[in-house]
Amino acid sequence: MEDKPNNTVLIVGCGAIGQRVAQRLQAMGQPVAGLVRSAASVAQLRSAGIIARQCDLDGMPLPSACVAGCRDIFYFVPPPPEGNNDPRMAGLLAALNAQPRPRRLVYISTSAVYGDCHGEWITEAQPVNPATPRGMRRRAAEQHLQSWADAHGVQWIILRVPGIYGPGKLPLARLEKGLPVLREADAPWTNRIHADDLAAICVAAMAGKHANSVYNVSDGSPGNMTDYFFRVADAAGLPRPPTVARAGAEQVLSPGMLSFLNDSRRMDNRKLLEELEIELQYPDLATGLAACFTGQTPR
Ligand SMILES: NC(=O)c1ccc[n+]([C@@H]2O[C@H](COP(=O)([O-])OP(=O)(O)OC[C@H]3O[C@@H](n4cnc5c(N)ncnc54)[C@H](OP(=O)(O)O)[C@@H]3O)[C@@H](O)[C@H]2O)c1
Repeated sequence: MEDKPNNTVLIVGCGAIGQRVAQRLQAMGQPVAGLVRSAASVAQLRSAGIIARQCDLDGMPLPSACVAGCRDIFYFVPPPPEGNNDPRMAGLLAALNAQPRPRRLVYISTSAVYGDCHGEWITEAQPVNPATPRGMRRRAAEQHLQSWADAHGVQWIILRVPGIYGPGKLPLARLEKGLPVLREADAPWTNRIHADDLAAICVAAMAGKHANSVYNVSDGSPGNMTDYFFRVADAAGLPRPPTVARAGAEQVLSPGMLSFLNDSRRMDNRKLLEELEIELQYPDLATGLAACFTGQTPR
């Protein structure tokens, strides 16, 4: 076992966002390792020049050797789909009990920890009040991370992230199926961030001078959820989806979609922009969607 942290940055859960973060770090000359669950993802990381480590956090306990010794760790694995806790986060923290511990952990959580805010603007001072099991699992993960890191003198950053969009992250399959959405008058406020801006934010959060802090992540231009689907459809040249009234929504919308309808809020991103000195590349959906549909295929 190494007795002092090494210079390799570890991205636990090196999927769509993790790989964008890895690209940025590699461009800065930083060695990067990614931990994933599947063999297919290992192959993908290797083809991108990322050192690959494979472990299923739902299976055997995570070996300390997979994570220990890395100075900077990003944690992007979502909680499991069931329950009110996050045993995957617990597995990571147990493995990190081995010395040497990291300098800083950056965690992507979700804005679902706030619960329904009735469309109000919220800062990071808003009390958390998750209303869905999805939000409760994330809150449990945040609490576990914070208490473990504080107890061990490890710096932490929690990013409360809303809907991520970008190439490969658009609801095109849903639109192609013509699945319904709520009519605009009933649709909740939602917030978004472009995947490339989120990757830049993650890198800045790891490098920034502020530690042990929570950030609302958003492009600062909230909109209603139905308007989002309409604008993606328009940009993709697909028909706008049919709409239903709130009263009949339970019969026609999927449980996944329904779970988002009772969470309405507008996220204030001033702390993010000021403390992390972020200049967003895509400060609204118009610029972000335009970039998705020029050049590469958006899928
Ligand atoms: N989509 C959104 O709008 C949204 C909003 C807020 C927050 N988030 C969160 O943002 C984070 C990053 O998103 P993303 O798009 O990069 O996600 P992603 O592409 O699905 O990547 C998730 C990564 O976690 C790994 N993983 C999943 N389960 C695992 C397990 N049991 N053991 C080990 N590794 C496991 C996956 O490995 P394999 O590829 O091998 O399975 C993959 O590398 C996620 O936590 C996501 O939930 C997403």
